[in-house]
Amino acid sequence: MNPQMLVDQASSGGIPAPCWFIQFFKVLGFTLHMVPMNLWYAGLLVALGVHLVGREHGRRFAARLIQQMPVIIAVGVNFGVVPLLFVQLAYFKFFYPATILMAWFWLAIIGLLIPAYYGVYIYAWALRGDRGSPLPQAGEGSGVRAGGLEVGSRLIPTWKRLVGWLAAVFFVAIGFLFVNGMSLLDHVARWPALWKATRVAGAVTGTALNIGDATLWPRWLLMFGLALGTTAVWVVIDAVWLMSDATEAYRQWAWKFAKVLYTVSMVWTATAGAWYVFGTWSPELQESMFRFPLIVLTGLTAVASGLPWALLATEHWCNAKRATAAGLAVAQFGVLGINAVSRQVAQNLNLRPFLDVLAQPTEVQWGPLVMFLVIFVLGLCVVAWILAQVFSAKSAALAKLTVTEGEPDR
Ligand code: HEM
Repeated sequence: MNPQMLVDQASSGGIPAPCWFIQFFKVLGFTLHMVPMNLWYAGLLVALGVHLVGREHGRRFAARLIQQMPVIIAVGVNFGVVPLLFVQLAYFKFFYPATILMAWFWLAIIGLLIPAYYGVYIYAWALRGDRGSPLPQAGEGSGVRAGGLEVGSRLIPTWKRLVGWLAAVFFVAIGFLFVNGMSLLDHVARWPALWKATRVAGAVTGTALNIGDATLWPRWLLMFGLALGTTAVWVVIDAVWLMSDATEAYRQWAWKFAKVLYTVSMVWTATAGAWYVFGTWSPELQESMFRFPLIVLTGLTAVASGLPWALLATEHWCNAKRATAAGLAVAQFGVLGINAVSRQVAQNLNLRPFLDVLAQPTEVQWGPLVMFLVIFVLGLCVVAWILAQVFSAKSAALAKLTVTEGEPDR
């Protein structure tokens, strides 16, 4: 069967916004989605691990990140809607067939996300522990002082710990499903085989997964590697910018931990990236991405992680820690951004034999377009306002923070 037959043939109208507009907001939205998504993708696992086996500072960071997680998830899920909107707008001829082939797994994202979200809340509330009951005072009971905050020592019930780990596993599984969907969208040639394998009387059953695609595994690992790097940067941002009462010892720990984590991330990303590019890209894609001018983009994407890493590695020579931390955040945003741009270019090139996405006719609908812009800007303002509320309330909330061990949760 010619794969082209499975690409949507029915719709012939132009796309309702200029191509550059769609590409720009798809990439921007995905970059904005990646920042918080990275924190629950790899950050949650790191936090749970450190909370389980780490020492005082590590456990404090873990408790903070897990307590911040409900807000991070809310922000990240909302940002995810932006690229979703634009992928449906300009890539619908590929997006719908690909996600119909794996429909049950695609729908399962919601089924996994809701319990994962609840799971994070349960763990975060278990860390908070007392739900209103007074915390032990310094030197009282089994509470210990860490970095200026009272850190209680309660035992999180095993089931709540398990729920936290299960949530982290669910998030990794959701990431896997997203990578399945997006890699399937990119590789139309794989559709007929999946259709044949999962059809009943000509209709697909929606039970396909793209696991036979060589690009899937390195693509999945690549995002996880980037996520480790974003988590490392968050450790520093949290310690330097968000924690008003962090001790010098805690901040030093944060920089050191971030250096180690970012180094792991860089090695991981480089390995997965090399596997992805040299081991699984089609010769046509390699040819385009390694030819001028795209070679510049490919090269910059490959070395981008070096900048945040260098900032971390040289941090001890710089006295302006807050500026260094801010620079680090901007650099990591740049790493994610350039990865998003490269992915977008590769996606367009992969689809070109079936449809030149950038050359689609347009019938611009200014009303919805202006409405999107207004709502997007308003949405960003609301997110900024929510974050401002969270940060201004943090002293009160984090004063109740408890890192557990020792006493049962009440
Ligand atoms: C329900 C809320 C979510 C929405 C609307 C959403 C939306 C999206 C969209 C549209 C993309 C593709 C972007 C593009 O190619 O331009 C994407 C990619 C991705 N999302 Fe989300 N997302 C959501 C939640 C999550 C969750 C909970 C995870 C869990 C880790 C996740 C992980 C990923 C990953 C790993 C990718 C990259 C897949 C790839 O192309 O390799 N997302 N998301």
